[in-house]
Amino acid sequence: MKQILFVGSEAAPFAATGGLGDVLGSLPNEIAALGGDDVDVRVVLPLYAMVKDEYRAMMRTEAEFTVSLAWRRLYCGIKSLYKDGVTWYFIDNEYYFKRNGLYGHFDDGERYAFFCTAVLEMMRVLNFYPDYMHANDWQSALTVIYAKRKYAQVPEYSGIKSVFTIHNIEYQGVYGFEILGDIFNLHEGDRSFVENDGCINLMKGAIQLCDILTTVSPRYASEIQSPEYAHGLESIISANSYKLRGILNGIDYISYNPKTDTALWENFTYRSIDKKAQNKVEFQGLMNLPVDADKPLYAMITRLATHKGLDLVCGMIDRLLCEDVQFILLGTGDGTYEEFFRKLEERYPDKVRSLIMFDRDVSRKLYAAADFFIMPSKSEPCGLSQMIASRYGTVPITRETGGLADSIHGYYEDKGKLHGNGFTFANYSSDELLERSLAAKALYEDKEKFKKFVSKVMRTDFSWGRSAEEYMRMYEIR
Ligand code: GLC
Repeated sequence: MKQILFVGSEAAPFAATGGLGDVLGSLPNEIAALGGDDVDVRVVLPLYAMVKDEYRAMMRTEAEFTVSLAWRRLYCGIKSLYKDGVTWYFIDNEYYFKRNGLYGHFDDGERYAFFCTAVLEMMRVLNFYPDYMHANDWQSALTVIYAKRKYAQVPEYSGIKSVFTIHNIEYQGVYGFEILGDIFNLHEGDRSFVENDGCINLMKGAIQLCDILTTVSPRYASEIQSPEYAHGLESIISANSYKLRGILNGIDYISYNPKTDTALWENFTYRSIDKKAQNKVEFQGLMNLPVDADKPLYAMITRLATHKGLDLVCGMIDRLLCEDVQFILLGTGDGTYEEFFRKLEERYPDKVRSLIMFDRDVSRKLYAAADFFIMPSKSEPCGLSQMIASRYGTVPITRETGGLADSIHGYYEDKGKLHGNGFTFANYSSDELLERSLAAKALYEDKEKFKKFVSKVMRTDFSWGRSAEEYMRMYEIR
C-alpha cells in the first residue's frame, strides 16, 4: 500500500482562500477513491482560527509535543479527523494560527517554518513515514528542504520521496539571509540550495531539492521556463525541467453541480438549459438591474489582481457596454481596480453591478446566472473558474495562457458543426478581448445554435478523472 501525505497551507472546506484550497480539498479525495485499498491518503494543514466548530467537534487529539525552531521551544498539537477516505491532520499552535485570515502577517516566514518543522516531527511522533510527501507552493516548501537537508540521514525519513507542486510561481517566499538560522533553522551549508538573487527563496529551494516537480497545467510547465512568466526563476526551472511535469487540475464535480447545487434558484443540466435563464432573471432582480432573460450577461468572478488581466477589461469595457448587455463583477483585491469597477457601476447604473466582496454563495449564483465568463488572464497557472463556469453553462471568454490554453479551445464552425468550448484570443490586447466578446454575443443571438454550444460547453469534462490517474502513475500506484 502506498502512503501519501499532502502538505499545504489551505484546503477546502476547512480553510480556503483560493485555487490551492480547492485543489487540496478535492485531489486527495479523488486519489483515495481511485486507489481504494492500494493507497492511504492523508493531508496536513495548520489549524487556523477560521476552521469551523463543526469540524473541530469531529477532531481528536493525536499527540502533543514540543517543536524546536532554532532557539524556540514551541507547543505543537496534532488533531485529526477522517472524512471521505482521507485522514486530515491539523497542526495546532494558537500563537501562530489563531489569527484573522490566513496570510499576510508580519511573521509568515516564521509561521510556515514552524508548520513545516511540525510536519516532519509529526512523522516521528505518529510513526507515519509516507512513501510520498507532496508539498504545495512556498508555504510548504520547507518540508522538502528539511526532508532533504536535515532528515535525509535519518533512516526512517530517507525513503520518503518528495513532490513539490507550483500553483503560482509569483509567490516564492523571499527573505533576507540574516534570518537563515534564526527563523528557518538552516545552516551556511544550505545556502546554495535556497539562494536566489542574493536572497533566501524557499520555492527555489524546494524546486532544487524535490524528487518530482509538478505544476498545474502542461502549458504553464513550459511557460515558467521563460522569463516572461517565471518571476526570476526561469533558469532554475529550466535546469530542473528533467523532473518537471504539468498536470491540469480538475474541479470537484460533486460540489460544483448545477443539477444539485442548493445555492441556485433553479437547478439545471445540459438537457434542461432553458431552466438556467431563471437564475439570470432572479439575479437581475436581486441586483436591481433591468430584468430581461434575453439580455446577454457577462460576468467576472476574480481576485482583483493585475495578472488576472484586468487592464484588458478596463481598456474595452466601455466599448462593450455600448451594446445592449449587462456586466457583473464579483471580487476584491487591488484598490485601484475596486475603485474602477465602483465608478463603472455609477456610470452605467442600468448595465453594471460591481460586487466588491467575496461570497461563495453569491459566486455560485452568478456562475449559474451569467451567459459569458470573462477571464483574460495575463498568466494563469491553471485557473478553476473557467471550469466551474463551463459546468454551469456559462461560456468562457479566455486568453490562451497557462491552464486556460489547455482547458478552453476557441469556438469555430465548420460544415455546420460547432467546435471548441469557449471564445479565446492569443495576444494580451483589449481589442482582441472585445472582438471575442462581441463574437460571443453574435452567437448568443442565434438562439438555437447558442443553446447547442452551451450544451457542448457544459459537457466538457473537467472532473479530476484523467488528471487523478496521472497522479496515480506518478505515485507509482498504477
Ligand atoms: C493558483 C493559481 C491558479 C490555479 C490554482 C490551483 O491559485 O493562480 O491558476 O488554478 O492555484 O492550482
